Amino acid sequence: MRNFKCLILAAGKGTRMESFVPKVLQPICGKPMLGYIIKLVKKIGIRDIIAVISNKSQGQQVKKFLGKDIKVVEQKQLLGTAHAVNQARRLLKDYEGNLLVLYGDTPLLTEVTVDKLLEHHVASGAACTLLTTIMKNPTGYGRIVKDGLGRIKAIIEEKDTSIYERVIEDVNVGIYCFKSKDLFLALKKIRSNNTKKEFYLTDIIKIFYAKGLKTESVTTESSEEILGMNSKNDLAKAHDIVRWRILSRLMESGVTIMDPSATFIDEEAVIGKDTIIYPHVMIEGKNYIGKNCKVGPFCRIRGNCHIEDNVLIGNFVELVRTSIKSDTKIKHQCYLGDAEVGSGVNMGAATIIDNYDGKKKYKTIIEDKVLIGAGVILIAPVKIGKASVCGAGAIISKDTNVKPNSKVAGASAHFLHKKRK
Ligand code: UD1
Ligand code: CA
Repeated sequence: MRNFKCLILAAGKGTRMESFVPKVLQPICGKPMLGYIIKLVKKIGIRDIIAVISNKSQGQQVKKFLGKDIKVVEQKQLLGTAHAVNQARRLLKDYEGNLLVLYGDTPLLTEVTVDKLLEHHVASGAACTLLTTIMKNPTGYGRIVKDGLGRIKAIIEEKDTSIYERVIEDVNVGIYCFKSKDLFLALKKIRSNNTKKEFYLTDIIKIFYAKGLKTESVTTESSEEILGMNSKNDLAKAHDIVRWRILSRLMESGVTIMDPSATFIDEEAVIGKDTIIYPHVMIEGKNYIGKNCKVGPFCRIRGNCHIEDNVLIGNFVELVRTSIKSDTKIKHQCYLGDAEVGSGVNMGAATIIDNYDGKKKYKTIIEDKVLIGAGVILIAPVKIGKASVCGAGAIISKDTNVKPNSKVAGASAHFLHKKRK
């Protein structure tokens, strides 16, 4: 546990995203960007988290995503980052400790960097410690202005910079540690007399400077982790960065990925050692794949799948909400939705589970050691008992319960009429 509380600003409209989805819920590798921030904050040992959300319908979507263990405060008018922080004043009025303030649109930060920031803040005893970085093209970021002794005296937002300040490459990442009391006292002094007519949190630095309170900084050299997500272009960059982070984590843990540049695996996948992922595989959402499996090429696992060890999932196979026990082979052109497949099953090419009747989705159970011929259609709900055989091209109709050790076949073509010339 860390002796810090955390405040996440997540009320902004995200106008530049041009989306109906709230900015902080925009997904990166299958997970909303706010999810990455919450995970990071919990990982560094902070339990007490408050999020500032909007009071509009978008805010309600964010609230739903956050669940019960995160407190929320609503910001009725979006008057700027200082105004957003001020919404937590009542919740933090008796709190005298340290507060980590993060923006909900900076999801690529790493644990190592945030840890460093927290440690520096505690060690230096500063009123504020902020994360900075050097950017060759600092467009859009607040510039860090220092005095003759190298002390931080202000942050100037892009739109308010003079030509001398605009060339400063030292920028504000948007993550701060504050002594909570100093923060809320100084917030009262912030005005909105700037180009955007907003109450900028960054103005707090010059208020601290004037009062003789120290602002310290920690600089990160990583140009990726500080990226703020403001547009779909930024999201695409983040997607690429997170995708490589996921792939390298999996490879380091023993997964073989034949062509990482042609593999898309979401953040919440768990994959066991010596499983081989062939090119052009998409593994979306939450999935578990055991050890020593082979997946792909050209295969899509769409979420909530649980695949045990030594399973073969071949080309052009699509799976969703499906569990597969060990040593099963599903090698060519199959679709399985809402299925429970046993161990040692062999599924022929082009087996299709018809799980949806236009209104509801139904389950299919295929027990251990079942052999399914090519081109079988199973119209759910159905159950195929242990060690049974389904002949090629069979259509297993709705509500069929094939007893164990049975053989079923049929959907034979029948004569229609003579071919017309
Ligand atoms: C901010 C910083 C800038 C920094 C940059 C880093 C300020 C004034 N500027 O600029 O110095 O370089 O981040 O990415 O802080 N929000 C609210 N309520 C509001 C306004 C914003 O909750 O009324 C939230 C947004 O949802 C967002 C965060 O605060 O998550 C940052 O706001 P944004 O408008 O994106 O700030 P930037 O212009 O990027
Ligand atoms: Ca931003």
